[in-house]
Amino acid sequence: MSRPSVSRTDFNNVGACPTGLDPRRMPEHIAMIMDGNGRWAEAKGLPRIMGHRAGVEALKRTLRLCSDWGIGALTVYAFSTENWARPGDEVNFLMALFERVLQRELDSLQQEKVRIKFLGDLQVLPSKLQNLISEATALTSENNGIHFNVCTNYGGRRELVFAAQKLAERSAKGDLDPSLIDENVFASELFTAGELDPDLLIRTSGERRISNFLLWQLAYAEIHITDTLWPDFDATALREAIADYQSRHRRFGGLSSIDSCYAES
Ligand code: FPP
Repeated sequence: MSRPSVSRTDFNNVGACPTGLDPRRMPEHIAMIMDGNGRWAEAKGLPRIMGHRAGVEALKRTLRLCSDWGIGALTVYAFSTENWARPGDEVNFLMALFERVLQRELDSLQQEKVRIKFLGDLQVLPSKLQNLISEATALTSENNGIHFNVCTNYGGRRELVFAAQKLAERSAKGDLDPSLIDENVFASELFTAGELDPDLLIRTSGERRISNFLLWQLAYAEIHITDTLWPDFDATALREAIADYQSRHRRFGGLSSIDSCYAES
């Protein structure tokens, strides 16, 4: 969806903008590929799982910063459909970590009016995690603070296939005329239905790939790559990413006002 229903002004917590950033040009929605937990741990001679633990602290910090700075939505890539290929111990650790963090943080998410959603193929997750996800989603569904979307067992291609299946089912039942399927109808069947598309994608640890993340939704996002490893991501790194975003001329395939001046002269 390009510029749909929700606007940052819908949120109560339009926040303090850090110095050096233009408060009128803050991204409304940030997408985040949190990469580098393993390398962070290995560089310190620690087991990889310590990197994931430190990654949770970076995530809490980033969510609070985004909320305080008035950003409407943060969507993070926590576990991809490809991550099942990791060693069983690491996968089990991550599932247990998600459960522990959700249990531990639910009260403060609620107090801070965060609306949490989990996006992905959730039915294959451990049943305890599925129950916690349902509880957290229901409890926070009416909150008017930042939208916090946690992509878990998420893959962009799988999301597109699911959307195509749902549209085909509606058409086969006679509920949907295929000739009426346009970009808005298609986007309404994605996990992100109703959410603004991300304005800014940040990827940590220097990798320069999208890695099957939000393939539809990132169509016009600005991309910021930082060498910072995810556990070290902090206010300075977020400020730098937003400053980079604010330095770009977003044209959505058209001409910016600057280009128009040149075209006319
Ligand atoms: C990528 O680093 C990180 C992950 C696959 C896991 C990210 C998960 C968290 C930060 C915890 C989130 C918790 C909740 C409750 C949402 P990597 O392991 O690929 O690092 P590497 O590239 O250095 O090996």
